[in-house]
Amino acid sequence: MYKQLLRPLAFRIDGETVHHTMMWWASRLLRCPMTRALLHSTYGRRKKEVERDLMGLHFQGIVGFAAGFDKGGELADRLETMGYSFMEVGTVTPLPQPGNPKKRIFRLIKDEALINRMGFNSEGLDVVTARIKRRKKRNIPIAGNLGKNTATPNEAAVADYTFGLQQLYPYVDFFVVNVSCPNVKDLRALQREDTLAPIVEALVEARQKQSTYKPILLKLGADPTEEELTYTVKVALEKGIDGFVVSNTTTHREGLQTTDEQLAAIGAGGLSGRPLHNRALRAVHCVRSAAGKGVPIIGVGGIFSGQDALAMLQAGASLVEVYTGVIYEGPVLARKINKYLKQHEDEIPQW
Ligand SMILES: Cc1cc2nc3c(=O)[nH]c(=O)nc-3n(C[C@H](O)[C@H](O)[C@H](O)COP(=O)(O)O)c2cc1C
Repeated sequence: MYKQLLRPLAFRIDGETVHHTMMWWASRLLRCPMTRALLHSTYGRRKKEVERDLMGLHFQGIVGFAAGFDKGGELADRLETMGYSFMEVGTVTPLPQPGNPKKRIFRLIKDEALINRMGFNSEGLDVVTARIKRRKKRNIPIAGNLGKNTATPNEAAVADYTFGLQQLYPYVDFFVVNVSCPNVKDLRALQREDTLAPIVEALVEARQKQSTYKPILLKLGADPTEEELTYTVKVALEKGIDGFVVSNTTTHREGLQTTDEQLAAIGAGGLSGRPLHNRALRAVHCVRSAAGKGVPIIGVGGIFSGQDALAMLQAGASLVEVYTGVIYEGPVLARKINKYLKQHEDEIPQW
């Protein structure tokens, strides 16, 4: 029904408008226990999925929802009813900020992809924290995805990230530090050693002051070279990072069916979806080789099926996340992946 009816309708409307309308409805409908039960029976996990114990947390399945979908924590753990076993809330910036001017999400239908240049639109930490705080008991692990305000220069970014960690600490289960978004000016330069090391050190120090240990993962892009990724991974691990989320969107445009004229009209932004998949697989493989066994890696990028998810797990991921795949395949995607992975459980490596 999604592909035949809802998707053609939704694709006639601006992507961001569809997103906000859907979030508005979903956040209200998911408050109702009956709707949750109905959705769970249609889309939810079945009793026996492939489970994982990782980073001191229990994951009832391997599929999570990637950052950028629930930037404000409006759905958070309620996506469990749709078959997701963990969720990233954010990216959240310390102060509210509008992000880049609209229009800033574009569909590349022939390529089953999106280009976005949202640029960390965020309601800010106070609003998002207040929202997540209301959920006393969480059904699935929630990650706080941390960013910096656009007005904060890179030299002062440490303070933004540590502030985010301190404020969200009691209310999330782990953290993802976003230094790889291509839509915030110069952000990706933070992946360099001279800027990355002080951020990781400050976050680890801030965590030491807390009474519980919560894992901190670093979100990396798919665009750095193998050498650059290897180097970043080594520095981050040395400084105390627990794991990685790979990958963010790409600025590359090779091999697309969308014409050069159409791409020029769209302009700058991060590409996600099917064309990102191979690039993300390469990045995950490279991060796994550099990190070795035992380091948690969440693989994300162009996962549209159980086969794609399995390929990501075989490339080195411990868990996977989806985003653009859900826009094209519909809400049933997590369930399809969970089912496929259960059938192919013995082909999933244990990293
Ligand atoms: C509209 C949109 C907004 C996004 N916003 C964020 C964000 O705020 N923070 C972040 O870390 N990643 C963000 N991402 C990147 C996704 O989390 C994911 O890494 C990327 O889209 C690749 O996965 P996919 O191909 O399954 O979409 C965003 C992606 C999209 C499409």
